[in-house]
Amino acid sequence: MRTPLIAGNWKMHLSLAEARALAAAVAGVAAACPDREVMIAPPYTALAAVREVAGERLILAGQNVCWEEKGAFTGEISPLMLRELGCRMVIVGHSERRHIFHEDNRMINRRLRGALRQGLIPILCIGETLAERDSAKTMEVLDQQVREGLDQVSLSDPARLVIAYEPVWAIGTGKTAGTDQAQEAHVFVRRLLAALYEKNIAAGIRILYGGSVNPANVDELMAQADIDGALVGGASLSAESFERVIRFA
Ligand code: 13P
Repeated sequence: MRTPLIAGNWKMHLSLAEARALAAAVAGVAAACPDREVMIAPPYTALAAVREVAGERLILAGQNVCWEEKGAFTGEISPLMLRELGCRMVIVGHSERRHIFHEDNRMINRRLRGALRQGLIPILCIGETLAERDSAKTMEVLDQQVREGLDQVSLSDPARLVIAYEPVWAIGTGKTAGTDQAQEAHVFVRRLLAALYEKNIAAGIRILYGGSVNPANVDELMAQADIDGALVGGASLSAESFERVIRFA
C-alpha cells in the first residue's frame, strides 16, 4: 500500500557536470525499478541541468523552500521556482537546517504549508540529537517536531506528505540506528499520525529512515514493517552505491 521511496539528498555537493552524469545514471536505475519511487534533491543550481536527463521516473526535489511565492527573501527559493524546475517534492526541516541554521518547528511548519499550497510534496525531517536520546527524550522530541511541524495541516491524500526520521547522531557519522531503534521510532510516529489524521491517511503516509544508510545496511532497514524508504546522503553521491540502495532486497 505504501510505495517504497528511496531519496538521495545531495546537500552541497557535486559540480554541474558531475550532477548531470549522476542524475542520468540514477534515472536509468529508476526506470528499471518500477515498483519503487526514486527521488534526488540536487543543489538548486543543478536542478535545470539535472532535469534534462531525469526522464519520467526520477523525481526531483528541492532541499528547502520558502513559505512565500515571491518577495524580498534574499537567499530563499520559492515553491513556484521549484515547480518551474520540475520539482515534485521538497525536503523541509532537515537536521542541518535545524541545527546549523537554527530553523525551528514554527518556521519549518510555514515552509511545509507553503510547499503544500503550491502542490509540492514535503518530506518533513525529524530526529533527536545524541544528548536527547541519552536523556530519554527521543519520543518527546519527535512528538513535538511532528505536532508543531504539521500544525494546521489537513490531509485528504496520504501521498501528499512524507516524514523522514533521521536521528541527528546517525547523519554522516557512519552510525546507523539499530533496526529495532529505527522501527520503534517509526511505530511511534505512525501512532502519532493516527492521532492527528484519519486512520487510513495515517496508515498511508510514508515514513523514511535516514542516517548513514548504505548498501550494507539498506536491506535490513527496509525489511522493517514501518520503514517505507530511505533518505540517503553520502551513499547517494555515487551511482554505484545509490544504485545498490535503490535495488534493496
Ligand atoms: P548520510 O546518509 O550521509 O548520513 O546523510 C543522511 C541525511 O542527512 C540525508 O538527508
